[in-house]
Amino acid sequence: MRHVPVMPLEVSDCLISNPNGLYIDCTFGDGGHTLYLLNNFKGIKIVAFDWDEDALKRFSEEENFNDRVTFIRENFKNIKKSLLKINIYKVDGILADLGVSSKQLGNLDRGFSFNSSALDMRMDNRNKLTAKEIINSYPSEDLADIFYTYGEEYKSRKIAKAIALRRRMVIIDTAIELQRIICSVKRVKSKKNPATKVFQALRIFINNELKNLNGLLFDTPKLLNIGGRIAIISFHSLEDRIVKKNFKHNSKYKIYRIITKKIITPSKEEIKNNYRSRSAKMRIAEKINA
Ligand SMILES: C[S@@+](CC[C@H](N)C(=O)[O-])C[C@H]1O[C@@H](n2cnc3c(N)ncnc32)[C@H](O)[C@@H]1O
Repeated sequence: MRHVPVMPLEVSDCLISNPNGLYIDCTFGDGGHTLYLLNNFKGIKIVAFDWDEDALKRFSEEENFNDRVTFIRENFKNIKKSLLKINIYKVDGILADLGVSSKQLGNLDRGFSFNSSALDMRMDNRNKLTAKEIINSYPSEDLADIFYTYGEEYKSRKIAKAIALRRRMVIIDTAIELQRIICSVKRVKSKKNPATKVFQALRIFINNELKNLNGLLFDTPKLLNIGGRIAIISFHSLEDRIVKKNFKHNSKYKIYRIITKKIITPSKEEIKNNYRSRSAKMRIAEKINA
């Protein structure tokens, strides 16, 4: 399934301050935002990051980039170091559209979605730790901590115990099986799948998502030109809290001006056409001081 970029118009309206500038797309994914920006601003160039092998393949297949996009297969927390290697010291804007892409979710061999026949959840397959290993080997208390810390799952202990009981009998090696165990403990109360929070927690933990975001936000002020902007699209409160805190801190020290006094969310129309966008929240800040 082709990934539809979230709030593309809002992103381009708020991010592009220099029509001939250099921009960073930290989360290339399916190239949706990169393509949109390139098509609408003919003078800009983009350095795109993604650590997923499939994103690199997607980049290699695209013929419309010419020499306007450079791709770096790397964790965006290493943004500064990676840009230095190609002699880039300052940029005009930085975008990160966090989380997983529709392609990653739709690939049933990767274990991100509930009906996956695998239990992996690594975005970067060069990393070692998989969901299968965690679920089958971590002590029950550690599982519960992960579910609670990264998923805010209030039934974390009960779910962890059910997993520990089941794995005594069989190896849990599919997302389908994991979801079944969670559903045996947690009843369906809303439209939301009862396994949503545990899956979110595992994904965040395996991919170190909060640490990566903190790393990116730490380096951003040093990379942006004055007047350059950072736009972060997040999909859950743990990420959004980190972004909000970082922008507030930098604005207190007069490094950033917060552009989004009120958070930007997708329109009803966009949510109707792209259901994945429903929980997206965008925050933007502008660098005003060195
Ligand atoms: C929501 S998708 C981005 C979709 C993209 N904006 C588009 O329109 O096609 C998020 C992408 O970010 C990548 N990603 C997530 N965390 C990353 C990290 N720390 N470093 C590099 N890439 C990351 C994922 O592999 C995924 O491809």
